Amino acid sequence: MLQTLQTPGDTRWFVHDRFGMFIHWGLYALPARHEWVKQREEIPDEVYDRYFKRFDPDLYDPNLWAAAAAGAGMKYFVVTTKHHEGFCLWDSRLTDYKATNTPYGRDVLRPMVDAFRARNLRVGFYHSLIDWHHPHFVIDDVHPLRNHPDRAKLNEQRDQRKYAEYLRGQVRELLTEFGRIDVLWCDFSYRSRPGFVGKGRDDWQSETLYQMIRELQPHIILNDRLDLDEGWDIKTPEQFQPRAWVTFNGQPVVWEACQTFSGSWGYHRDESSWKSIDQLVQMLIDTVSKGGNLLLNVGPTGRGEFDERALDRLSGMGEWMKRHSRSIYGCTQAPPEFKAPADCRLTYNPTTHRMYVHVFAWPYIHLHLDGFAGRVESVSYTHLTLP
Ligand code: GLC
Repeated sequence: MLQTLQTPGDTRWFVHDRFGMFIHWGLYALPARHEWVKQREEIPDEVYDRYFKRFDPDLYDPNLWAAAAAGAGMKYFVVTTKHHEGFCLWDSRLTDYKATNTPYGRDVLRPMVDAFRARNLRVGFYHSLIDWHHPHFVIDDVHPLRNHPDRAKLNEQRDQRKYAEYLRGQVRELLTEFGRIDVLWCDFSYRSRPGFVGKGRDDWQSETLYQMIRELQPHIILNDRLDLDEGWDIKTPEQFQPRAWVTFNGQPVVWEACQTFSGSWGYHRDESSWKSIDQLVQMLIDTVSKGGNLLLNVGPTGRGEFDERALDRLSGMGEWMKRHSRSIYGCTQAPPEFKAPADCRLTYNPTTHRMYVHVFAWPYIHLHLDGFAGRVESVSYTHLTLP
């Protein structure tokens, strides 16, 4: 097995489990046209507020979500406690902008954590560094108010240090009030450069935030978006499949591809680019064949459901996993002497010494297994019919 860069968090379970569910849920599920809708359409707070006033997911049942994730073979989940819009799913003491103050009137995060734990899934929190609602978050070139005629004047009232303190306070709540958290996914940094005003480690006070995170949950797996050179545990390629095992300064690292069913993370009713079950299964295999994990996203609706397209993909993947999960769990990239035949991927379990040849397109008569001669004790053939 490739030796990956040593990092502080506990990644042992992670590289075994391989497959997790990302959940993007917030007020943006109501307009249902991408989680960046407030930014893209430059919607001011007064107007965006209509979604806060109508957030009432009457069909929300986190047991159904957890069942769908477990059924697909997922072993952990990562949910947006707060996305860039600033809306909080839990009953934070530090803001009024939270689920408990909507018509729904309840914390939606805690029952979700309980439901997923009850099915033995590990718990991860995505927490947005960006906040387009907080009064002290300085308006930059990505903010919904970036083109506001009084931007400079508005910024005079804002103190980014106060925001950084709020951010820390909220992360402290999340890491102290929900028991053991396995993954923390902070999103994201976009440093200033000539002609562009962004935000990075100084704006988040990343060093101080980092110290606190490790103090509260030393084992936690932290992603790589705090704009820190070290301290992170995983690299997180987004919306694309790396061509090989992900490296940092030339050394292989623990990594996780995050992917959507369609293109948007938040619920997007009209997107037509949904991936097929075949594509998704192949994406999972491809990831593991390069030593990575797959975090596959669902954007639940404003009423609190996974829509039928998501459920269809999840159950299709579950059908495949039922028979083939042993080629995913505990598996990784094959040793280099084994070459994947054309249109195939190899996954390998170093404990059982089993090699899995995943045939994406069946060849004409022969499958040439380069590097296998003399190394094979027995072969079993599983028909890879996709549902
Ligand atoms: C991004 C986007 C975002 C999404 C995330 C997932 O950076 O800002 O909407 O939550 O990636 O990786």
